Amino acid sequence: MNKKTIWITGGSTGIGKALAVKFANEGWNVAISARREGLLNEISDNHENITPFPLDVTDKSKCKEVFEKIKNKFENIDICFFSTGTWNPKKERDIDIEQIEEVFKINFFGTLNTIKAVEEYFKTRKSGTITIVSSIAGYRGLPNSTGYGPSKSALNNLAESLYFDFGRSNVRICLVSPGFIKTPMTDKNDFKMPFLKTTEYAAEKIYDGLVNKKTFEIHFPKSLTIVLKILSFLPSKIYFGLVGKLTKYQKKD
Ligand SMILES: NC(=O)c1ccc[n+]([C@@H]2O[C@H](COP(=O)([O-])OP(=O)(O)OC[C@H]3O[C@@H](n4cnc5c(N)ncnc54)[C@H](OP(=O)(O)O)[C@@H]3O)[C@@H](O)[C@H]2O)c1
Repeated sequence: MNKKTIWITGGSTGIGKALAVKFANEGWNVAISARREGLLNEISDNHENITPFPLDVTDKSKCKEVFEKIKNKFENIDICFFSTGTWNPKKERDIDIEQIEEVFKINFFGTLNTIKAVEEYFKTRKSGTITIVSSIAGYRGLPNSTGYGPSKSALNNLAESLYFDFGRSNVRICLVSPGFIKTPMTDKNDFKMPFLKTTEYAAEKIYDGLVNKKTFEIHFPKSLTIVLKILSFLPSKIYFGLVGKLTKYQKKD
């Protein structure tokens, strides 16, 4: 039987890297992309099923070029996992337009560029899964998140919209909403992260959700995400009060 293939962006570190190793260990072909070629090569050298395809997702034409290369090598692509993201907590407190544009360029438009690169392939193939990695920060507004949270909210809305559009072609759109996972991204946080989990934990949950289940959203750990989901249904006044208390938010005079 031919091996199945997954393309993972954001594969050089963190959640993307752990998921690449998980799928490779399960016998899949794995194509990994990110900007740091050295890191991709290192991962590939240690896992024979993993092949590096360096890419900056902000470059639209490169996204198409790289996907062509992946298709030429593997022929059938079963799952795409688009997980590039950036977060700079120190710059999220104020409205820094250049910073917010940069966050949207990678988190939102970078993800969109890769979805566009695979759109025709999947709509013609009439099967497969496109995964958008969002965050619990996209559920509702949080303090000190002027770029990251809004970029993830936009991805949530996009994923729901594409669910209908790709669904007509029998292509599954899947949204991943991780809680706090220990990665180079969260190592920058200077607050205590509740229910912090490892990348291996995240990879297990995502693998199970993508391969064994059919749900639209994969979210974990449930002890955190269920509470946040309940909060997200509350009227704004109650939401602001509870989240303000939980995050020790203080009004500036
Ligand atoms: N860790 C968490 O707690 C958490 C929680 C919720 C959601 N998430 C989301 O999960 C995803 C993975 O995050 P992570 O925590 O694993 O962080 P990470 O280790 O910093 O991974 C981010 C990945 O994105 C890649 N990347 C960034 N800009 C890129 C660009 N322009 N082109 C191509 N690749 C780019 C990075 O590789 P290069 O620098 O080599 O390009 C890296 O592989 C992100 O979308 C993040 O928002 C994480």
